[in-house]
Amino acid sequence: MSPPPPAQPPLHVAIIMDGNGRWAKARGLPRLEGHRRGVETVRTVVDAARELGIRYLTLYAFSAENWKRPGEEVSGLMGLLDFFLKRELNNLIKEKVRLHTIGRTEALPPNVQRELERVKEATKHFTEWNLVLALNYGAQTEAADAARAYAVAVQAGRENSDEATWEKFSRYFYTADLPDPDLLIRTSGEMRLSNFLMLQLAYAEMVFTPTLWPDFGRADLVAAVGEFGRRERRFGATTEQIKTGPR
Ligand code: IPE
Ligand code: IPE
Ligand code: MG
Repeated sequence: MSPPPPAQPPLHVAIIMDGNGRWAKARGLPRLEGHRRGVETVRTVVDAARELGIRYLTLYAFSAENWKRPGEEVSGLMGLLDFFLKRELNNLIKEKVRLHTIGRTEALPPNVQRELERVKEATKHFTEWNLVLALNYGAQTEAADAARAYAVAVQAGRENSDEATWEKFSRYFYTADLPDPDLLIRTSGEMRLSNFLMLQLAYAEMVFTPTLWPDFGRADLVAAVGEFGRRERRFGATTEQIKTGPR
């Protein structure tokens, strides 16, 4: 029997889905087979997240640096993305999950862009459940894009740079409409951010698991959320203040 979901689930869980290549290599299979299995994990985790009451799920699916990979792997990943979007359209509608993207999606192949638009459009009226795919995403590029957009707004008189605060500046990030992640999970034993949501993770709890993404399942998500529940989030305050409330 699976353990019951925690009383207070994190609002937003972000996951660096890593280890597909190693999963395949360990089985003498091509890397793309690992990615294929990884797509099945995505379906499992989207379901499990909803069951646990996690309203925002962000998945790092393709980084701005992943273009460095062999052309065959990149096109294989784009093909899988296209397949995933076509397959999931009806499921997401049925489950009332809104699809969002973060990253420079304009550089993705046109067929993938079309599918993304189609699914985003068909799910845009849903509010409770949100699936965010990070595609051609890099936190440093995001910061540079935000700075450029902010500078344009200053020039147009819509912003006053003397009054710049994080609250105002962050409106120019890809994540403007999303809450900051409460929990970051990275699979496959790597302990780095790899250019993922660096500012938005300022106060996220981090859970690293050696499990490879294709092997990750509902129980692993439950375990990570359980670990999250045992952490004390202080946001710069003291334990005493957390327990008694601010004075
Ligand atoms: C994560 O798995 C998927 C993507 C980055 C697209 P990897 O392909 O990075 O798997 P490893 O790290 O080589 O095992
Ligand atoms: C991060 O994984 C990107 C995604 C999971 C999409 P990588 O496998 O690309 O990261 P590095 O290169 O090991 O840091
Ligand atoms: Mg990797």
